[in-house]
This record gives sequence, C-alpha cells and structure tokens, in this order.
Amino acid sequence: MNQFRSVKGTHDILPNESKKWQELELVVQEICNQYGYNEIRTPIFENTNLFSRGVGEETDIVSKEMYTWTDKDGTSLTLRPELTASVARSFIQNNLGSQAIIQRLYYKGPLFRRERPQKGRQRQFHQFGVEAFGSENPEQDAEIIAIAWGILNRCGISENASLNINNIGSEKCRIGYRKALKNYILPYINDFSKTSQHRFKNNPLRILDTKSEKEQIILKDAPVISDFHTIEDSKHFDYLKNYLNALNISFTVNDKLVRGLDYYTKTVFEFNSTILGAQDALLGGGRYDGLVKMLGGKQTPGIGFAAGMERFLIAMDKSKKQVKMLTPDIYFICIDLEGLSASLKISNELRKEGFIVITDTLRRSMKSQLREANKLNSKYTIILGKREIDNGTLIFKNLERGTQKTISQTEVINFFHDLTN
Ligand code: HAM
Repeated sequence: MNQFRSVKGTHDILPNESKKWQELELVVQEICNQYGYNEIRTPIFENTNLFSRGVGEETDIVSKEMYTWTDKDGTSLTLRPELTASVARSFIQNNLGSQAIIQRLYYKGPLFRRERPQKGRQRQFHQFGVEAFGSENPEQDAEIIAIAWGILNRCGISENASLNINNIGSEKCRIGYRKALKNYILPYINDFSKTSQHRFKNNPLRILDTKSEKEQIILKDAPVISDFHTIEDSKHFDYLKNYLNALNISFTVNDKLVRGLDYYTKTVFEFNSTILGAQDALLGGGRYDGLVKMLGGKQTPGIGFAAGMERFLIAMDKSKKQVKMLTPDIYFICIDLEGLSASLKISNELRKEGFIVITDTLRRSMKSQLREANKLNSKYTIILGKREIDNGTLIFKNLERGTQKTISQTEVINFFHDLTN
C-alpha cells in the first residue's frame, strides 16, 4: 500500500525544528508585550464573505487562492487566508473598542492560500502579526514599524532586511490617481499581460506591482501617487518619515509599492530580505482606516503588519548557527521492576527543580538504556538496580567525564544542585 504523505504545499514541523519556532514565538511575544500588545486568537475558519468583503473580491487571495467549501447548512466557509479581517471581525463582535481607546493586539497561527508552492511559499503557512485599532496618527504607524524592526533585530536578520514604504493616499486621492494611471497606460494596453489587462479594469493600482520587466519599463514614467496626495496625506507621510529617521530605521520610499489587499489606505510598507531568494517579502502591512466600518463596525482607524514565520526561519537559519535540539540533563536508568515507582518519583522531583529528565519506559537492558542516553547527548545518568533499591542509593554517572559515584536516594536533589551550581 502507498504511504500517506502530507498534502502538497503543507509541511510537518519536526522535533528538531520546533525549538526554533518556539524561540521565534518567544521573541514575538516579548517584543509585543514590551509595546503593550496582547495576544488574540481567532478561529481558523470564518464566513467566506468576511474575506471577500474585507480583503476584496478582486485580490489574488480572494479570487484565486481561498480554500472555500459549503457547509452542511449551506453556509459558505473559508480557511483564513490572512488574519487582519478576522481580527477586525472579532474587534467589532466583542466590542473591543470600548475596552481601550487603542486596542493593541498581536497574533500568530496558520493561514491557508492555494498558491504554487516553492521555497518560502506554502499552502499552509504561518504568520505572526500585530494590529492597532483606534489611532489615525502617524505615530501609530511608526510604533508598528518599530515593532517589526525590533523583532527583525532580535532575530539577527535586520542587516539583510530593507524597508520599503509608500503612502497610497486616502480614497479621495486614489480616485484622481486611478484615472491618471489609466490614461497613461491605455496607449500601451496591448503590451500588458492578460492579468494586468484585467487589473486595468478592476484594480489599476495593482498593475504597479507587476513582476514583468517589460511592463515595469513602460511604468517607469507613469504618474506617481504622491502628486495626488491631499495635504493631509502628505503631512501624514512626512511625519512618518521623520519618526523613522528619529528611530534610526532606514527606509526607501517606493512609489510602486501598493500591496495586494484592498483594505489599505495611506501608509503601506514591506520588509524584504536579500538572503531569501524569489520569495523575499519577510513581512508586509499598512493602514486600513476604512476596514472596521466596511465590516459593520464604528469608524475606527487601524494599522498592522503580518510576517511569514517560515520565511523568518529560513532567513534566521542562513544568518546564524542552528539552534540545538533540547538535550536531557539526566537519563534515569532503572533495571529492576521493583525500582520503577521510585524512579518515576525521583525523576519528577528532579523535573520540579528544573532538570530535563528522561525515564526509560521500555524496560530495556542497562546496556541499551546507556546507549540511548549517549545517543540523546544526556549529560548524566542515574542507575537504579536491585542493590541500590536494597541500600536506598543510586549510581550517578557523569557521561561527559566518564566518572561515577554512589549517592543516597534522599540526597539526590541536593547532589544535583551542588553539581550544577
Ligand atoms: P501579506 O503580504 O499577504 O499580508 O502576508 C504577509 C506575509 O506573510 C508575507 O510578507 C510573507 O512573509 C508571508 N506569506 C504570505 N503568503 C505566504 C505563503 N503562501 N507562504 C509563506 N509565507 C507567506 C497580510 O497577510 C496582511 N494581513 C498583513 C497586514 C496585517 N496588513 C495589516 N495588518
């Protein structure tokens, strides 16, 4: 019979990798907490409408990549392809706006997009991210970008990361810009791909995102959005740039950066990494001042970002030594059935004191248990056999030094404390 395999575009996170995931999650938690952000966890599936309305029917995510099915009662449900819409839904549903004037939230978890899998691009992938609801000011944008920068720094990957920012304006600005962009593109429209031609009709700003060199050359002299900024948009952008300079976070203004989700207004940004290859976006985000209202809540401005955890880990692997697997301090070898309950009890006492202890549960010979202890790189072993049971003792072995000593069972905790202090 053929063996089962994980579905294309999905991956197991194996024991020798999970330590790195935990490290990254810990850094995210610490830095988010430092800035006063609390964790939110939302369900893995939602009503499909949430994403089609929130993220936008015309986006790649909604039009091509969602895992959607009809539930038994006829409701259309979707595995979440991103988390901002879910968090905004929860913010409205749970009236989080009434609990704090600014709701600062962070999250981590799996997302699902039916994209073509390649290195750094999966169908089930993981993000961590932050969202702040309640402030429309550029100080909030700076705070969000500073969190991203702080996490990149702590993970040791900020040197290879570059920040691109843009301000895609308020809706008022974009009406004028869309028109000017379309007027510019129209004479060349036949030189554009089918995808871009489709975007020309439905979402012309997304054409600026094109990966085609030919189209990029045509777009070189296209009108730029900053020429269409309202006074308010320009001021917002200038403040943000000043704040980033004050925070010593270098950036490039990229007037072609529009991002692929429809909810953005004003500030958008991305951190890319030179060590990632084709899928080089480490994280991306922006302001979404109209999203909460569009989803049925009160007018509430918001801004956030999300980062690909797999991409973070690839970048971290490339830039520093691999994190070692957890190794046991003590491998407890019991070679007499009568001693098993004492071995379980002593092991638990040692664990309570902070030692990592493995007890054998296979009732194997002393030789094979010792071999296992060495294989796992355990520092020490404790051996309990018939003679030790009778004497109330244990044999302690230092596997690194090859030394051995008999100790009293009642003294074992103190013995290990003295040893490790
Ligand atoms: P996004 O740009 O679609 O934004 O995704 C953010 C990050 O998730 C990307 O920069 C990338 O690192 C990672 N990512 C996306 N798709 C994949 C994939 N198929 N495989 C592996 N990693 C992937 C959002 O999701 C917005 N919700 C961000 C945001 C939060 N904007 C405001 N608040």
